[in-house]
Amino acid sequence: MTIRIIVKHPSEILTTPTKKVLKFDRKLATLLKDMHDTMLDSDGIGIAAPQVGESIRVAIVDLGEGEDIIEMINPEVLETEGSVIDIEGCLSFPELYGEVERPFYVRIKAQERDGRWYELEAEDYEARAILHEIDHLDGILFDSKILRVVDSSELENEEEEIL
Ligand code: CO
Repeated sequence: MTIRIIVKHPSEILTTPTKKVLKFDRKLATLLKDMHDTMLDSDGIGIAAPQVGESIRVAIVDLGEGEDIIEMINPEVLETEGSVIDIEGCLSFPELYGEVERPFYVRIKAQERDGRWYELEAEDYEARAILHEIDHLDGILFDSKILRVVDSSELENEEEEIL
């Protein structure tokens, strides 16, 4: 179990578009494990590689409660639909929460840790988490999308909203 240091805003690596993963090796598997450990340690439900100092297209979403861990390597958004405003936080922005508008539905393609391509459809908060993490891979941070800052006292489930 390895907890890595989470890169906090402001940091250049967080706003730099990441590079494609070309090698699906043990190093990648270790990174995925470390990212998951680090995310859980900070009560997050999503994390992207630049947040642990690796500028490559790797991200995880894990909503918990028996849901599968979604590992996204080289993800691409294929389709989005609808729009919903909900509250987000981010591991790289301690104590900042805000309302962000995102599509309700998303369809993506991405690679598994062994390089196989897959497609995934998601809705509502799962779609939000996926899109928040893919934004990280493009160097886009959620603070630029906040419509209204939300005080943490207004939150019902703080740990369910940190992406
Ligand atoms: Co984030």
